[in-house]
Amino acid sequence: MPFYVRMGDVPRKRHIQFRENGTLLTEEVMGLEGFSGNEAILYHLQSPCRVKELGEFRPIVREEWVPDAHAHRHMTTAQVPAGGDPITGRRLLMWNNDVEISFCRPDERMEGFFRNGEGDEVVFVHQGSGTLETIFGDLPYKDGDYVVIPRGTTYRFLPDGGEHRLLVFETPGLIEIPKRYRNAYGQLMEHAPFYHRDIHPPTELKTIREKGDFLLTVRVRDGYQDYVIDYHPFDVVGWDGYLYPWTFSIHDFEPITGRIHMPPPSHQTFQGPNFVICSFCPRKLDFDPLAVPIPYHHSNLQSEEMIYYVDGNFSSRKGIEVGSITLHPSGLPHGPQPGLAEKSLGLAETHELAVMCDTFHPLRLTAFSRDLDDGRYAYSWYENAQDGATHTADEDPAGVTSHL
Ligand SMILES: [Fe+2]
Repeated sequence: MPFYVRMGDVPRKRHIQFRENGTLLTEEVMGLEGFSGNEAILYHLQSPCRVKELGEFRPIVREEWVPDAHAHRHMTTAQVPAGGDPITGRRLLMWNNDVEISFCRPDERMEGFFRNGEGDEVVFVHQGSGTLETIFGDLPYKDGDYVVIPRGTTYRFLPDGGEHRLLVFETPGLIEIPKRYRNAYGQLMEHAPFYHRDIHPPTELKTIREKGDFLLTVRVRDGYQDYVIDYHPFDVVGWDGYLYPWTFSIHDFEPITGRIHMPPPSHQTFQGPNFVICSFCPRKLDFDPLAVPIPYHHSNLQSEEMIYYVDGNFSSRKGIEVGSITLHPSGLPHGPQPGLAEKSLGLAETHELAVMCDTFHPLRLTAFSRDLDDGRYAYSWYENAQDGATHTADEDPAGVTSHL
């Protein structure tokens, strides 16, 4: 999506004969919005339709948790045991019709290949490195990367072997760079917090000419359909276009600061249908002498705020640790806990690193999120007010999270 890329061999013009050793290659146009959206044109050794065996279909089952009370929530993922591979290990935390948010701590390799046939994905790599092998080529990833995988991309995670913590967003809509960052031609404008040089397409196209039985699982119709194909799915000799997987590092997000508090849209990184994904990065804080550097209380009248705390010292925020998730649902005001606004005065910088997803429509919770819920967070404003100054001098004031 970000810009035109061409890898491998493609013919002089589209839709003309293109041969390898005399054999006509199979051209595939992979495109969005009928034939009007972004597309890529791929040249295969085999027909991508060729299926040797239809496997089983497994519907997605979501175990919903409807809490007794509507309240702010705090969940911790630090102790979640590892399990599964980067697909089967995804554990759904919350969802609505626009987005599903899962946590994944895989410790197994993927046996087969995966394709999301009904949604775009953003995989935020909190921890881990490796290569996302894709039909468009190899895409290296590391700590702090957002891995953006458009629907239709056949892929397989190949981890380096270290521990992985992934926060996964899946949407039936499109993951896009916010429109207001792009000019009429798609180029990122000067006020955008990142540039094309920060966007990394696949680095190397590998054409694999292997025959044998390969398992391909496609997410489609709210379930997983297995197929057995008799050729390696990465049989592409070349492709070009605007549709391909890419990475963007949260560490390349250039934070926007102001004399007084800048609102969350200044942290926006991606847009989806009725939701946004934002990056809160280390930065200088508001510099007006009378500025209150942490946010004012606000009421999410039309949105839910999910924040995943990636790095930094959150000791000033009671109970919050790396791997914590807070959910501030719609209909309720939220803001700094008692004493924090006063404490923040004069702060010059924050060391926080966090990923936020704001949705316009309510998020439903799962039994998995119930298991991670501390059950106390809703009372934290009350309790902090009761016990007075809960913050000690040895806390790092820059650990104050700048968005609550
Ligand atoms: Fe907020």
